Amino acid sequence: MIGVFDSGLGGLTALCELVKLLPGEDFVYFGDTGRVPYGSKSADTVIRYSTEIMRFLSGFGIDAALVACGTASSAALPTLQREFPIPVFGVIDAAAAAAASATVTRRVGVIGTATTVRLGAFERGIKALDPDISVTSVACPLFVHLVEDGFTDPDDPVTLAAAERYLSPLRGIGIDTLILGCTHYPIISAAIAKTLPGVRLISSSKTAAEKLAASLREKPRRGHGTIRCFVSDTPEGFESAGQIFMGDIPLGRAEFVDISKY
Ligand code: DGL
Repeated sequence: MIGVFDSGLGGLTALCELVKLLPGEDFVYFGDTGRVPYGSKSADTVIRYSTEIMRFLSGFGIDAALVACGTASSAALPTLQREFPIPVFGVIDAAAAAAASATVTRRVGVIGTATTVRLGAFERGIKALDPDISVTSVACPLFVHLVEDGFTDPDDPVTLAAAERYLSPLRGIGIDTLILGCTHYPIISAAIAKTLPGVRLISSSKTAAEKLAASLREKPRRGHGTIRCFVSDTPEGFESAGQIFMGDIPLGRAEFVDISKY
C-alpha cells in the first residue's frame, strides 16, 4: 500500500498518475482540507503538519509514501525521510531532472506557492544537475484557491487573468520549460499554456509518480486496487470535487480524521 498526501485536492493529480502506472496497488490518500493552504505557512508549520500526516498514514502499514505537495516536499521531505523507516518520495527531484534535460535554451521557470518559491528547492535541484541553467521562480498563490474552488475551465476568465498577471513576466526571457511546482497546477495547465505559448510544461505530480512507480517495478506487489481517502475537514463534496482531478478513475467517499491527534 502507498500513502499519498497533500494540503488538499492537488495531490490527487499525482494519485491519478500512480493509479495508472501501478494498477492493482492499494492507496491511502490524505488531503489536509482543514488546514489548506500550506503555501503561505512557515516551513516549521508545514513540517509539523506533514509529520502528523505521515504518522496517520503509517498506521495503514504503507510501504512507501509520496509527499504530493510542492510546499511540503520543499519544507519537510528531509525530516520525513529521516523520521520514517520507509521510502518517502517528494515532487522536487524528478521534476528538476526532467526540466534540466528538457531545456534547450537553458532557461527554466518554476511556479509554485510562496513558501515553495521562498525555500528554493526546485532551483537547487536544477542547479545541482547543471549550475549553468538559469532558473526564474514565481509564486502564484491564487492558483491553489482557483483550483480548490473549481475555476478549472481552460477559458475561465478569472483563471486566465490570474495566469496573465503571474506569468507575463516569464514571457520574453527565453524560458522554454516551466515546472508546475505545485500539485494543484496541472488542473489549470491549459490556462497556463495559453499564457505561455510554446513553453514545455513539466508536471511535478507526473514526474514524481513516474519515479515512485519505477522504484517499485522490480518488487512484487499484492494489492487489490483500492483507494481510501481521508480529509481533515468535512468530507462533503470531496468526491465530486476530487473527481475533476481523477478523470474516469473512480474516487470513493472520503472519511474525516482529526489529524491533530497524530
Ligand atoms: N498542492 C500544494 C503544493 O503542491 C498546494 C499548496 C498549498 O496548500 O498552498 O504546494
